[in-house]
Amino acid sequence: MQVLHYRRVASTNTTARRLAESGKPEWTVVVSESQRSGRGRHGATWQSPLGGLWFTILLRPIIPTEAAPTLQFLAGNGLLKGIKAVTDLAPRVKWPNDILSDSKKLAGILVETKTQTDRLEYALIGIGLNLNLTTKQLPSGAISTFMLLRRKLDPSYVLKEILESIRSEYDRPFDPETIMAEWWRNCIHRNKLVTIRTGKTTISGRNTGIDHQGRLYLDTTSSTPLLISDGNLRLALGSTA
Ligand code: BTN
Repeated sequence: MQVLHYRRVASTNTTARRLAESGKPEWTVVVSESQRSGRGRHGATWQSPLGGLWFTILLRPIIPTEAAPTLQFLAGNGLLKGIKAVTDLAPRVKWPNDILSDSKKLAGILVETKTQTDRLEYALIGIGLNLNLTTKQLPSGAISTFMLLRRKLDPSYVLKEILESIRSEYDRPFDPETIMAEWWRNCIHRNKLVTIRTGKTTISGRNTGIDHQGRLYLDTTSSTPLLISDGNLRLALGSTA
């Protein structure tokens, strides 16, 4: 494992992509104290001031292209365990790539891949963890370990624990069923009423499961459950987490 430290980059995913293209091996990790244009899912901006933990892991997994979505859940499982190892928090996962604590966003994961016909050439696992940040530095709906614990954590120590934790998940034989079962156990909306917005459409229902590709089963008024592969999920009002 090689961890490369930067003071400020545009996005650690962009730097990691450049390194991947130049042939760097897997487990090259790019960490930056801040990012000028951190990004989230669907092209959203990810605010990345000093005090957060912003990093990207370069992986070269030998898995079929269609198994790529599983990587963000594998990373989510590892990240959750890593956070638990360094704090006494009990965070949960939210589909598809968030870590929540007190029902607010503590961390997010952005996986970007490059494929070669039927296999992956590399995957970039970008992780943003709101660490030593105050309310003012975060968007509404977000929370940091500092806000939750009232003390600062050492970013190098937290990074080391999280990397170890993700690595031990990754080193297991790759089995999407096991990865998804573990993720589902820690899911905040397991069997809860949710609404999912995709483009201009919003659908509501009970989330009764997740398949091996990370698609959600949603029980609606129609006779067969829907299988949802993308969208923004919210816990329905009145649905307790
Ligand atoms: C999301 O919740 O939408 C995903 C957020 C991912 C943010 C991290 S910060 C490190 C890496 N570099 C980026 O530009 N994004 C990811």
